[in-house]
Amino acid sequence: MHSIAFYSRHAETDLWLTPLQQALPKAAIKVWPDYDESATLALAWAPDQAFIDAHPHLKVIINMGAGVDAVLALRLPKDVAVIRVKDGGMAVQLAEYCCEASIRFYREFPQYEQQRQQHLWQNNLLNDRAKYPIGVMGLGVLGEKIAQALRFFDFPVNGWSHSRKAIDGVQCYDGGELEAFLKASRLLICVLPLTDETRGILNYHHLSLLQTDSYLVNVARGGHLVEADLIKLIHEGKMRGATLDVTQHEPLEHNDPLWDMPQIRITPHIAGKTQIDQVLAQVVPQINRWFTEQRVEGMINTHKGY
Ligand code: GLV
Repeated sequence: MHSIAFYSRHAETDLWLTPLQQALPKAAIKVWPDYDESATLALAWAPDQAFIDAHPHLKVIINMGAGVDAVLALRLPKDVAVIRVKDGGMAVQLAEYCCEASIRFYREFPQYEQQRQQHLWQNNLLNDRAKYPIGVMGLGVLGEKIAQALRFFDFPVNGWSHSRKAIDGVQCYDGGELEAFLKASRLLICVLPLTDETRGILNYHHLSLLQTDSYLVNVARGGHLVEADLIKLIHEGKMRGATLDVTQHEPLEHNDPLWDMPQIRITPHIAGKTQIDQVLAQVVPQINRWFTEQRVEGMINTHKGY
């Protein structure tokens, strides 16, 4: 009987377990805090150190999400292979989320909402789309989908990634060209992995480089953004606002100053939700491969962090 250590920080464990057990009828799935210390494979979302420490023989951790920062922040057994979900149904949702935020900003829908409050039927001028270049930071599967979706609406789109990518219709910049990328963008969308290099990258200096009257959309991690810098830039009139799906501390405290900024829209980390069937379609073959051939595919580079 093969043991699988399972940890999920969300309350949706049962939704995962039934199809997982059906797909792997021979596996003994132990849901933390129940555990089998001899398990060599873990399926986990945002596990804690106690879970890792209870499984000293772990050789494979399958991260049930795209971002592996929470796993890599832990002390892991030596040479453990970490695999992450690629897309898993999240790319199209993130594209929807980012297009909604960008279109809302460009089309001035908040203005129409205000007019509606005032019972005011007033037709305003349409903005010039060319003046709304959008910069997408991070061009993996998720960032590429977002960039392509924005292109569909004819926005000028810039893309920034560690090594330069080539995406049709997107002006791509590489790691060394961050300032040029920011200066060429007015809306900024962050979908970067959180690593030592990207932590705090959305800071006062970098956000100030965006074009006048700028806007931020963060669907990556709260750790990318220096929240006090965003608030300062909005107060100074340099940025118009932001849509944040992620925050430094989650859940966001009731009295956090971000809540008091009407210019900042906040959603509770729901921009891209993993779809169980799509994740299992990736995960189940990996688990079978591990138990039959003692190997897995597509491990992340734990030094790079993605
Ligand atoms: C969600 O934030 C993920 O990393 O999958």
